[in-house]
Amino acid sequence: MKIKIIFFGTVMLLALGFLIQSRADKSSQPEKHPDADFTMSCRECHKEITPDIYNEWAGSGHGKMNFGCYMCHGDGVEEFYVKPASDNCISCHSGQEVDFSKSKFDNCFDCHQGHSLTFHNE
Ligand code: HEC
Ligand code: HEC
Ligand code: HEC
Ligand code: HEC
Repeated sequence: MKIKIIFFGTVMLLALGFLIQSRADKSSQPEKHPDADFTMSCRECHKEITPDIYNEWAGSGHGKMNFGCYMCHGDGVEEFYVKPASDNCISCHSGQEVDFSKSKFDNCFDCHQGHSLTFHNE
């Protein structure tokens, strides 16, 4: 019985490790936010730390709708993506679906800037 439990536990740990690993591979970054006081919101702090990024976001369609930094970067503690993927965009922008397998682009952000949402050449 005991052996069974240990075996099961090991399998679970391996499975978990695999999940975490494949998540990490996807973005291939050691995704960790620098140490910060997370009792403050992303915006409050980044308004001071990275004012250009804050202002671009605040003036964008996302900022105006109050769709915050977490939408792309995660909550900073449990999940953090330095270079966000764009796989959840379609939940709101269904009209914009792109079949990236048929495109030379991999990502919505190849064309749209993450914060202003304008095109890279603008
Ligand atoms: C109390 C301050 C503070 C808070 C709160 C905070 N940050 Fe930061 N953040 C920083 C600092 C400082 C840096 C490092 C800036 C630098 O010098 O490049 C940083 C860096 C970043 C980076 C770039 C990381 C990199 O490796 O290039 C991202 C993205 C980011 N923060 C997003 C967030 C998000 C999303 C939240 C909320 C979930 C958040 N931050 C909350 C202070 C904060
Ligand atoms: C719609 C998705 C999206 C949202 C919302 C978003 N970001 Fe980003 N952010 C990105 C992308 C994409 C990058 C990577 C840009 C690049 O590498 O060109 C990025 C990069 C960053 C960086 C690193 C910049 C650098 O030059 O290294 C910081 C800091 C950052 N974001 C902060 C924020 C903060 C603060 C908010 C909220 C006020 C926010 N982001 C909201 C998509 C987003
Ligand atoms: C929670 C819903 C939601 C999600 C998720 C979302 N967006 Fe948006 N987005 C909006 C809204 C609302 C606007 C402002 C209204 C509009 O322009 O359609 C907007 C505006 C935009 C615009 C500007 C359109 C314009 O005409 O100026 C771009 C580009 C954009 N989003 C890209 C993205 C990308 C890329 C992602 C994925 C990282 C994303 N959005 C995720 C809701 C969302
Ligand atoms: C190859 C470049 C490219 C890629 C990749 C791309 N877009 Fe766009 N996107 C554009 C261009 C160009 C426009 C402007 C079209 C126009 O104004 O008629 C646009 C417009 C938009 C708009 C505004 C649509 C409107 O009706 O005003 C949204 C929202 C948007 N894109 C979201 C996305 C999302 C989400 C992704 C990823 C799934 C994505 N885009 C991928 C180039 C791109």
